Amino acid sequence: MITGDSPLVVGNWKMNGTESALSELGAMEKGMVYPGVKVVICPPATLIIPAAAIAKKIEIGAQDCHAGEGPAFTGRLSPSMLFGAGARWVIVGHSECRALAGETDDIVRGKAERALEAGLAVILCVGEPKEARDRDVEKAVVLSQLAASIPRAVGARLTIAYEPIWAIGTGVTPTSKQIEVMHALIRDALTDHYGDAGRCVPILYGGSANAANAAQLLATDSVDGLLVGGASLTADSFLSIVDAAAARREQRLSLAT
Ligand code: PGA
Repeated sequence: MITGDSPLVVGNWKMNGTESALSELGAMEKGMVYPGVKVVICPPATLIIPAAAIAKKIEIGAQDCHAGEGPAFTGRLSPSMLFGAGARWVIVGHSECRALAGETDDIVRGKAERALEAGLAVILCVGEPKEARDRDVEKAVVLSQLAASIPRAVGARLTIAYEPIWAIGTGVTPTSKQIEVMHALIRDALTDHYGDAGRCVPILYGGSANAANAAQLLATDSVDGLLVGGASLTADSFLSIVDAAAARREQRLSLAT
């Protein structure tokens, strides 16, 4: 864990949540008694403004952004609009956007760079489909995605999330060894690209993380935190995951002394 004393837990609500979901966010905020864990919730864009008004200890993020501030583009939200609404983070390159919205690596890079310029912290997702793992080419797939989609210059506000597509929403998770191998490759690629600064970029794991498996996923040394979909929708399950991150932090601190 390179974020060491400050693991990061990000909840991605995806296309879930109307106004009534804000009560869950309120309960999460109330239960946020873990000063050493950084917590971000990415609600749908329609809830960013009211969510930012509720969240004080939790930070609010967006799930996507446009790759620029213009020109006019019906339906899109620019990074500075999201920042103005209260978002401080944005997820880019999620596999659902890459696959379903035809988002190329180049577009993901554009989104990441423009978002960083607008003052947003960026969570950039990479991950292989099941076929790639079956054919034993998952490393090449993830490394090529990473090389082509990370911002050209690293900022202090870049985070990578390794999310194997076959683990998203399936209840299946990779083994600790599989995560470790992929995170090590990603770390090497980041240091090759950014030099020493690449060592400070947090690498999250995402895909079917939940209250029951969070401790085990966080036990892998190279996991700096979790990107959580379904299990971030209710305060109960999300706070259990944050609790696991806090326990892991305590454990690391006690090992370090
Ligand atoms: P999941 O989603 O936790 O529901 O698998 C993770 C994600 O897509 O970010």
